[in-house]
This record gives sequence, structure tokens and C-alpha cells, in this order.
Amino acid sequence: MKDWLSGRHLVLIGLPGAGKTSIGRLLSEATGYPFLDIDEEVERSIGKSIPEIFENDGEQVFRQYEADTSYYIVKHHPSSVISAGGGWATNKNAVAHLRSVCRIIYLRVDPVEAYRRVRGSDVTRPLLAQSNGVERMKQLYNARRAQYEELADVIVDADTSSQRELVNTIIRQISND
Ligand code: S3P
Repeated sequence: MKDWLSGRHLVLIGLPGAGKTSIGRLLSEATGYPFLDIDEEVERSIGKSIPEIFENDGEQVFRQYEADTSYYIVKHHPSSVISAGGGWATNKNAVAHLRSVCRIIYLRVDPVEAYRRVRGSDVTRPLLAQSNGVERMKQLYNARRAQYEELADVIVDADTSSQRELVNTIIRQISND
């Protein structure tokens, strides 16, 4: 799709389970822009999985890696569709690197639905790996929702539409921007 992003990146934000990675991949296929997942880039550059980083180094170090990776993407990657981890929007240093060179889409999803999805997935989320996971997801939602909304250029409801509809809505919204 010719210059759909006008030289910027597109960053997908929202709770774990919002569909950032799957929608990001579909958007990338539909538009021809490369797809990047910040968590995968962190894992690749550090050589450890996200659960290992949380366990060995702690969340603060992970947030530093997340910020460094955001900086690296801005410096070295062409315009891309980027899936950010659920806490990226709350990581001021990470956001500061990308904010002025991207459009941000918030995939809004109900926390109970988000938890249903992550429970059925094979990705380990250290922040949700506890017995009262749904309560933890609600806490994350309440703690983050204002930041997600404030940061977003576009908000789409990700639990009522099909993935295909979401992709089309995002393409339309960004084209009209
Ligand atoms: C996190 C979400 C994860 C990952 C890390 C921390 C969070 O990404 O970045 O486990 O703070 O919500 P997903 O949103 O892709 O699960």
C-alpha cells in the first residue's frame, strides 16, 4: 500500500490478549509494511525469553530493554507495523523514542475477555502467572486504561469485531488521518 504510513511506524497497544500480535501480522500482510514485535526483538537482542528476563533480572530491567529496543527500531528500521507489549504504553522512556515518529492504535478489550484469551494461549506472561489471573488483568486494565486512551491516535474495540474487520477499520482510519 503506497505510503500508507507516511514514513512513520504504526504501534499497536493494549492489554495482553488484545490481539496486538495477530492484528499486527494481518496489517503487515495487508499493507506490505514489515511487522515487528517489541518483545520478540528484546528476546532476540538479549538472548533470553521474556519470562527468563523477568525471573533473572526483574521487571525494571525488562523495561529498560523495552526502551532500548524502541530506540533501536527508530534508528534502524524503516516504517513498520509494531506490536508493543501490554506495559509499553506505561514505559515513558520507551514511548518517548517512538511517539513523534508513529501513529498509535489502542486495541481496547474487556479485561475478562483479555484474560480468557491469554489463558488459552501458549505464551507465558510473568505479570499474569498467578492464581487470581483475572483479578490481576482487571488491575492492569484499571491502572493502564487512562494511559492507553491518552496515548492513542485511534481507539478500536477489539472484542466485538472480527480480526478482518479490525484490520479494515485500522487501514481506513489511518488512511483518513
Ligand atoms: C507485559 C505484557 C507482555 C510482555 C511482558 C509484560 C505487560 O506482552 O511485554 O510480559 O506488562 O503487560 P503482551 O501484551 O504481548 O502479552
